[in-house]
Amino acid sequence: MDLQKGTFYKAKDGTIILLRYPSKNDSIQLMNLINELVEEHAPIGSNAKVNRKEEEEHVKKAIKEIKEKNRIQFLAEADNNLIGNIQIKRLHGKSMHVGELGISIKKEYRDRGIGKLMMNQALKYARKEGIKIVTLSVFANNYRAIHLYKKLGFKKAGLLKGTLKDKGRYFDEIIMLKNIS
Ligand SMILES: CC(C)(COP(=O)(O)OP(=O)(O)OC[C@H]1O[C@@H](n2cnc3c(N)ncnc32)[C@H](O)[C@@H]1OP(=O)(O)O)[C@@H](O)C(=O)NCCC(=O)NCCS
Repeated sequence: MDLQKGTFYKAKDGTIILLRYPSKNDSIQLMNLINELVEEHAPIGSNAKVNRKEEEEHVKKAIKEIKEKNRIQFLAEADNNLIGNIQIKRLHGKSMHVGELGISIKKEYRDRGIGKLMMNQALKYARKEGIKIVTLSVFANNYRAIHLYKKLGFKKAGLLKGTLKDKGRYFDEIIMLKNIS
């Protein structure tokens, strides 16, 4: 996989996806992707929209972390638009062998097998970078994401009662873990 130029894949419904590293030119499209997710109240941790300057800083930091081997991140493009983002962030100190995964896909492109494809590639790269354990946190009612994570071998490792709040409602958070060594 050539991560600078990217590599093409075909999702299960035939959608052609380009997976590649982020570059600083992606800030605006990444900002739009995040802000759309925030607007739809998608089951993700963040609830605040980002502005262009914040996202530019964020992308700059992400590129530095990728170079330092402390982050794996791919963007997915379809139909010449950025439609997905996945990252595995290496933890610090005595948890350097652990990576925390986050993924999001634009609404119209969900349920086409793109999430599975992105996760498989990111996990493959994480293993290459020496990450042994991948963890993630998911809203307990995010059935689609949980289905996908279980399918890829993640196991429930913990339940945090009421640690997430959206639109005035409290939600449980499930911690999942996969050993990839
Ligand atoms: C969660 C997410 C990353 C998954 O990516 P995706 O491309 O939609 O996932 P895939 O198409 O690869 O797989 C989805 C699977 O869930 C299944 N699914 C869909 N809705 C479901 C539901 N309500 N309950 C159970 N399974 C469901 C699909 O059938 C598919 O399984 P299959 O391949 O066995 O048929 C994506 O939907 C997304 O970005 N959602 C919004 C943000 C989010 O939830 N991010 C994760 C935060 S932890």
